[in-house]
Amino acid sequence: MALTSPSFERRRHAAQQVLSSTSWNGSGEGSAYAAANIALCKYWGKRDRDLHLPTTSSLSLSLPLGTTTSVSFAERDAVIFQGKELPADDAFALRITRFLDLIRPQANFGFTVTTNNTIPTAAGLASSASGFAALVLALNKASGWHLPARELSILARLGSGSASRSIFDGFVLWYRGKREDGSDSYAEPLDLSWPELRLGMLVVEHGEKSISSGAAMERTMATSPLYPAWVDGSTGQLQQIHAALQRQDIDALGRAAEANALGMHATMLAATPAISYWTPETMAILQKVWHLRKEGLSLYATLDAGPNVKLIFHARDEEAVSAHFPSLSLPSR
Ligand code: PMV
Repeated sequence: MALTSPSFERRRHAAQQVLSSTSWNGSGEGSAYAAANIALCKYWGKRDRDLHLPTTSSLSLSLPLGTTTSVSFAERDAVIFQGKELPADDAFALRITRFLDLIRPQANFGFTVTTNNTIPTAAGLASSASGFAALVLALNKASGWHLPARELSILARLGSGSASRSIFDGFVLWYRGKREDGSDSYAEPLDLSWPELRLGMLVVEHGEKSISSGAAMERTMATSPLYPAWVDGSTGQLQQIHAALQRQDIDALGRAAEANALGMHATMLAATPAISYWTPETMAILQKVWHLRKEGLSLYATLDAGPNVKLIFHARDEEAVSAHFPSLSLPSR
């Protein structure tokens, strides 16, 4: 049995609370797909570190890229990633088996997890959100839990915060919630559709992050004097983003989403020691975006815990944006 800790036990208790009304009467086999998502209003900081409860609510748009995962009951855990079984001590395999420890009905109950990303590594996107969401959806099928989507979102959150949003497609809102046990911190799809909205990726680097998003959030919250200001601003930005999506107003959306992301990175710069995910190329892209905007193009940027830039624009400007950024990758919708 895996090592345990008070923090792990709290997480397991939260998972068991979700599963308390279920029974294990599935066929023992299930598979599911979950889409990756990009936050237009970010999740940055936890009000509860163990349960991955966020300081702020966040809003994302899913991408037509993601993870497909199959689960089958077995005598021991095995993780097969992109066609190859991973060694049990591999960091990725350990993240999955550690998550399975939260939900397994008894210590000697194992799972074979076969997982494949349709996210090309070249897209430079993190896959933990779609990865944990697909795993939870596959477990729900294999185990016959028949959990409502809200509960699945809570379970996925216990794997990785942003995975709570990947349970759904389209525009998704993840509520901060107020309760200590996290039972009101789940995601929900929004009744919005905007097929002309474009999110393009500019990949600056493919490699591992210099510091994980979890560690960066923690240091920012503990040491950055700018963090409370970002949290204060986030509530208004979330409302602006939601309203702009309803009105399909690209400039109002871009302004609020870019301000939210740049503010998030500013909180990191003001941490001790300072954190910056940016490379000179990241800065050069941002300056080009600002320059093009001055020239009249409705083009905005957002960035996550990494140096890659995501461009936000309207379909009518697709040709112009692609001409200015020939390496732009535009997952088709
Ligand atoms: O889910 P995590 O722990 O990988 O955190 C993701 C945080 C950001 O990507 C930076 C923002 C977000 O809301 O997705």
